[in-house]
Amino acid sequence: MAAYDIIDHRYDAIVVGAGGAGLRATVGLVEAGLKTACITKVFPTRSHTVAAQGGIGASLGNMAEDNWEWHMYDTVKGADWLGDQDAIEYMCREAVPAVYELEHYGMPFSRTKDGKIYQRPFGGHMRNFGEAPVERACAAADRTGHALLHTLYQQSLKHKAEFFVEYFAIDLIMDQSGACRGVLAWCLDDGTIHRFQAHMTVLATGGYGRAYFSCTSAHTCTGDGNGMAARAGVPLQDHEFVQFHPTGIYGAGCLITEGARGEGGYLTNAEGERFMERYAPTAKDLASRDVVSRSMTVEIREGRGVGPDKDHIHLHLEHLGPEILHSRLPGITETARVFSGIDATRDPIPVLPTVHYNMGGIPTNHMGEALRPTAESPDAVIPGLMAIGECASASVHGANRLGTNSLLDLVVFGRAAAIRTAALVKPGTTHRPLARDSADFALARFDRMRNAQGSRPTAEIRLEMQRTMQNDCAVFRTKQVLAEGCRRLDQIAATLADIRVSDRSLIWNSDLVESLELENLMACAKATIYSAEARHESRGAHAHEDFPKRDDQNWMKHSLAWFDDKGRVRLTYRPVHAYTLSKDVKYIEPKARVY
Ligand code: FUM
Repeated sequence: MAAYDIIDHRYDAIVVGAGGAGLRATVGLVEAGLKTACITKVFPTRSHTVAAQGGIGASLGNMAEDNWEWHMYDTVKGADWLGDQDAIEYMCREAVPAVYELEHYGMPFSRTKDGKIYQRPFGGHMRNFGEAPVERACAAADRTGHALLHTLYQQSLKHKAEFFVEYFAIDLIMDQSGACRGVLAWCLDDGTIHRFQAHMTVLATGGYGRAYFSCTSAHTCTGDGNGMAARAGVPLQDHEFVQFHPTGIYGAGCLITEGARGEGGYLTNAEGERFMERYAPTAKDLASRDVVSRSMTVEIREGRGVGPDKDHIHLHLEHLGPEILHSRLPGITETARVFSGIDATRDPIPVLPTVHYNMGGIPTNHMGEALRPTAESPDAVIPGLMAIGECASASVHGANRLGTNSLLDLVVFGRAAAIRTAALVKPGTTHRPLARDSADFALARFDRMRNAQGSRPTAEIRLEMQRTMQNDCAVFRTKQVLAEGCRRLDQIAATLADIRVSDRSLIWNSDLVESLELENLMACAKATIYSAEARHESRGAHAHEDFPKRDDQNWMKHSLAWFDDKGRVRLTYRPVHAYTLSKDVKYIEPKARVY
C-alpha cells in the first residue's frame, strides 16, 4: 500500500453530510458549545435537500383544524404498521415546534392572507383519523427544500460551525470494543487524507436513489453512510422499502411535486378517466404514494397508459390557471417546460412512478443513536455513532413514507441528535488515543480502489447494477424476478474485483470518487434486493405479487441485512416497537389500510 500522510483533527462531534439533517444537527451541536466539524462531499447548499419541493409536514392548523395525533395516525397508517410508534409520536409531536423554529430562523415560507405559514394538502395526510384530506404541508412555493437548506446553512454560519467542504468520507474508524471513534476522509481539492477523531460521529449522508436507473435523486445520492456502516458491521434495516414517487417526468425522472395534486392537479389514463377514484374513493389522487404508484402501474399494464407506447400517465394542472401555477408551483412549471417541453398551463404533463426515497437505512432509536441489534438486545446502541435523515431508519416511515415527512424527519432528528449528543458529551472532553492502526481499514480500501487496474470501467458496472435494480426490484415484485435479481446482482457485484480506475491522481479524481461511491451503492442495492426477496408478504412499498396480503403475524418486523467481509448478505429481524413514548398516547392497532 502507498504511504499516505494523515492530517489529524479532534472534535467533540463530527457530522458527515450537510443536507437538512446534517446542518440541523450541526447548528444544535455548536449551539450546545460542542466543537463540531461538518464534513461534506458537496457544498452544503448543493445537498439533495435543495430539491425537495412540496412542503414540510406539521399540524399547525393554519388552514383548517388539525392536530399532531391525526398526523401520527396518518404516519403509522402510511408506514403500513412497520414504523416504530415511539419514534413516530416523537416526530409528529415535535413537528410543530420544529417548523416554528425554522420560521424564527428566517425560513421564507409562503403566507396566507393573514400572514400565517401557508399549508397545502399532501398524499395520506387526513383530518380526524382518515376522514378527508387536510392542509398540513408547510410550503415555500414548490421550493421548500431550497428555502430550508439555505436557512439552515445561514444559521450554521452564524454559529461559526467549521465546515470541511468537498471532503469524501472513506470509512468509519471503529475501535476494538465496537465503538465509533470518527471517520477517515479525503480532501478532493488538494488530495490530502484527514483523520477526524470525535466523541460522536453523526452520519447524515442521505439516500441511495442512484442504485436505480431512473430516480428523482441527485447523482450524489450514493448511500455513502449506509456503505460505511455496512463495512463497520452495522446492519442495514428495511432496505426493501423503496419509494416510487408517482409523478416523475416521463423519460427524465425529475420530480413533479405531489403538491401539484395538493393544489388540485389530477391523473388520467388514455381514456381520459380520473382512475384514482376507483382505487382510493376517499383520498383519490391524494392517497399515499405507494397506492398511487401501484394504481398508475396497473393502468399502464392493463393497456390504459397514454402516449404512442401507452407507457405513462397524464398529470393535469392546466385547469388551475396560470396565476396559481406561477405563484404556488413555479418550479415545476419550469421543470415541465425544460424536461418535457410542456406548457403546464395548457397541456398535461407526462409522468411515471420514479424511485424517490429510501425508507430503510441505518437502524436508530428516536434520538438518532445507531443500533447494532442482537437477539437479546434488539435496541443495543453503538457508542459514538448516530445516523439521521434518509440514511437512517428511526423508523418513522416504516414501509412507506408520507410526502413532507422527509423534511420533517431531517429537522426533528437532526435536532434530537444534537440534544442527545449534548447530554452525552461534555465540551472539551479529552480524547483517548486511537490505536496505531486506526486508519488502516479505510486507507486499505482507498488505496485498493485508487490502484484498481482491472478491465471493467466503473460506469459499466454501475449501469448494470442500476438496470438490475430497476427491472428486478420494482413497484411490483415476484418470487422469480427477485430471486433472479439477487443472482444477477451478485454476479455484477463480483466484478467490482475487476474494476478499472484509470486516474491515479489524488486531486479532483472523479473516477475514484465514483468508484468508491459505487461500492457504497452496491451494498445498498444488495441489502435492498435480498431483504425484498426474503419478505413474503406485501406491505407499503413492497408489493409482492406472490404474497399479495400484509402478514402481521409473521412479518411485522424489521429486516436487518448484515455483510461479511466478502460482501455476502445475512438477514436477521428485530421487532417493530409496538408501544408509544408517552403513557397518555395510545398505541395505534394495525388494521386494513384503505384510502
Ligand atoms: O412531492 C414532493 O414534493 C416530495 C416531497 C417529499 O418527498 O416529501
